[in-house]
Amino acid sequence: QRITVRLTSCKLMVLQMFCYVSAALWCNCTTSLCQKSGFQCETDGACRASTFFSNGKQQHSRGCIPQENLEPPGKPIYCLGVEGYLYTQCCYTDYCNSIDLRVPTEIGGGYGPGGTWRLVELVAVIAGPLFLLCLLLLVGAFIYHYHRRGYNHRQRLEVEDPSCDHLYLAKDRSLEDLLCNLSTSGSGSGLPLFVQRTVARTIVLQEIIGKGRFGEVWRGRWRGGDVAVKIFSSREERSWFREAEIYQTIMLRHENILGFIAADNKDNGTWTQLWLVSDYHEYGSLFDYLNRYSVTTEETIKLALSAANGLAHLHMEILGTQGKPGIAHRDLKSKNILVKKNCTCAIADLGLAVRHDSATDTIDIAPNQRVGTNRYMAPEVLDETINTRHFESFKCADIYALGLVYWEIARRCNSGGIHQEYQLPYYDLVPSDPSIEEMRKVACDQKLRPNIPNWWQNYEALRIMGKIMRECWYANGAARLTALRIKKTLSQLSIQEDIKI
Ligand SMILES: *[C@@H]1O[C@H](CO)[C@@H](O)[C@H](O)[C@H]1NC(C)=O
Repeated sequence: QRITVRLTSCKLMVLQMFCYVSAALWCNCTTSLCQKSGFQCETDGACRASTFFSNGKQQHSRGCIPQENLEPPGKPIYCLGVEGYLYTQCCYTDYCNSIDLRVPTEIGGGYGPGGTWRLVELVAVIAGPLFLLCLLLLVGAFIYHYHRRGYNHRQRLEVEDPSCDHLYLAKDRSLEDLLCNLSTSGSGSGLPLFVQRTVARTIVLQEIIGKGRFGEVWRGRWRGGDVAVKIFSSREERSWFREAEIYQTIMLRHENILGFIAADNKDNGTWTQLWLVSDYHEYGSLFDYLNRYSVTTEETIKLALSAANGLAHLHMEILGTQGKPGIAHRDLKSKNILVKKNCTCAIADLGLAVRHDSATDTIDIAPNQRVGTNRYMAPEVLDETINTRHFESFKCADIYALGLVYWEIARRCNSGGIHQEYQLPYYDLVPSDPSIEEMRKVACDQKLRPNIPNWWQNYEALRIMGKIMRECWYANGAARLTALRIKKTLSQLSIQEDIKI
């Protein structure tokens, strides 16, 4: 005897399990056998709802599945799909199979068009957000990078290639080796960036040798040789970048221009250390040198000629693919010229220099009207009448300053046992650290220039130096000598005086 307890009447939770198993279940039924019982059937198993296609139309079939057919338990085969039916579902409450089943689109799992769509969807769901995240990160990184160092990104886009590094920095290679074929091989713009970085990071700083508005200058050691390291404060990143950029102008290397070795920016987390590594010259600046020593006639000519030589190279435009643009220094003074061992000059501190683009006849940066050192500013710079759109005018201003440097040298020249004490130009006309206004009054309004003593006329070298100075100091910039002209004049003088350069 079958106990027929209606599932709905089972109120006690404890009995639910028992009720469930033993309950008779009423289901809708569509088979002809159920016609008598009013299209319903009673079962101890499950209600079944199925769909099938007949004549291209979806038909519904309902019925009962006896308990004994619900095998295996938990996943009865009958409920998964009876042969001939498209889709089957089992349920366990009265008339629960009254529903009209819809053929789900996913039939067939990974096969058919539905399956493919699911795969695409899956990929989109996973890859979409990932891609977006990456994009966001990239954009974020780019913006961060651009904001911090946008203008000098070129400097940092370097690829460290250890194999090349090794080639350049083999243990037995000294700095001279590294640099010597730079000036002879056409490249001329400096060491590859990764070598610069490696060199800079293996320098051991020794002692501070100078201080300036940009930061400090140190003597450092690298592989047994001395180097000069100019360390910029982080605020001066622009100056650092500009100077490194100028030094790496193609074909700039010249014996009378300070030899550039490396630029490096070390980010230690809190601040950026900006290094500019160059040749080290133990005599220091021409200013220091002249303060300490008087010079012979020969040394005077050598210093003057080499300075003109360096400036002429700086100013000169070399055409061609391995060419060099014309460069104006804009801060020429005895403190920015170094003295080499053989008593020749090396022009340094190119941080304020401007380059000429002859193709478009423009200057590579928007030049401030008045930069440099007040004392050495040409009259047209002081009164702001200089034509800043015209590159030649910056060269003429350099020549004026070169004339003042010559005056400083010539005063220290030992001729016939006499030499004068060291003085800065205009020492007798303006106070120390003169303002632009004070300089303008003297150089523009009163048209005064440093004094050229009459006795210089008695010595050929000093006579010619004096003549050159006057021609460097014309109020009209265009009337001044060119560096090349000065170089030729002094070359003749050196031959005349039998000086070996
Ligand atoms: C299922 O059976 C119930 C009870 O007899 C009835 O009311 C309902 O209309 C039936 N459903 C279908 C789809 O035949």
